[in-house]
Amino acid sequence: MPASKTSLLWRCPKCDLPLIPEGRSLVCENGHNYDLAKEGYVNLMPTGKKLASTVGDSAAMLVARREFFESGFYEPLRQKLVELVIKDSPRVVGDIGCGEGYYIGGIAAALPGARCFGTDIAKDGIKMAAKRYPRASFAVADTYGQLPLAEHQADVLINVFAPRNAREFNRVLDPSGKLIVVIPAPEHLAELRERNGLLGLQPDKLQAVVASLGGEFKLGDVISLTYVLDLAAAAVGNLIGMTPNARFQDDDEPVFEAITTVAAFDILSFDRLS
Ligand SMILES: C[S@@+](CC[C@H](N)C(=O)[O-])C[C@H]1O[C@@H](n2cnc3c(N)ncnc32)[C@H](O)[C@@H]1O
Ligand SMILES: [Zn+2]
Repeated sequence: MPASKTSLLWRCPKCDLPLIPEGRSLVCENGHNYDLAKEGYVNLMPTGKKLASTVGDSAAMLVARREFFESGFYEPLRQKLVELVIKDSPRVVGDIGCGEGYYIGGIAAALPGARCFGTDIAKDGIKMAAKRYPRASFAVADTYGQLPLAEHQADVLINVFAPRNAREFNRVLDPSGKLIVVIPAPEHLAELRERNGLLGLQPDKLQAVVASLGGEFKLGDVISLTYVLDLAAAAVGNLIGMTPNARFQDDDEPVFEAITTVAAFDILSFDRLS
């Protein structure tokens, strides 16, 4: 990845000044220095911040997630997101809580002229994303902190099954910018959840998300995307392994059974309120 692309994008987490490339580092005018990893990503977590070990997805969850995606099960969702994002020809698109980069990677491939970026608190995910999707820029950053980005920098932000920060999304988006949030619909993986005793979904998730963004964003279109998933045992293992359920599995080698279930997503488009 050309370093100049990163330098135009990221802001110093300590003093908010633009980060400029200098060798294999990004440096602000105050001399704060951030190394570019060999995969091209940069860690922009404020130094000294201690995180609980359960914050962000673990390496094992991210590997399961990538294997699941590689089987194409969530390709219809990626296609729908690409379609929604590219229709306004945005110049700058970000994925906040991008994990291993599947969605922003697909958008970057479909929008070669745009600057695409992803942030996530899981360094292992950002590393996988940067390696696989060199057209996009990636940084380790905490969605609940100040994002390492300038005011009004992005034309579109996407947020898929990941934490949100309404105030920061509003700050980073262009005044005419769009926020696209994907959440599970109530019937998402219902059969799988029931058979495997998985964690339930938050009741009234859609209303809760709209309320949490309400002061900063106005809800526009809601698209429901539902389709059948025929999952072999290995895919069931990956799907369970990529979710927080993985943390509650006490069996060392759990046995999974093939199942037919439903993928059901609500895709919410929000306009920024100023
Ligand atoms: C369910 S995963 C979704 C990842 C990706 N959007 C996808 O759909 O493949 C949730 C993601 O949120 C990230 N995450 C959790 N807490 C976060 C935080 N405070 N700041 C940034 N990312 C966070 C996790 O590391 C994980 O990658
Ligand atoms: Zn600085």
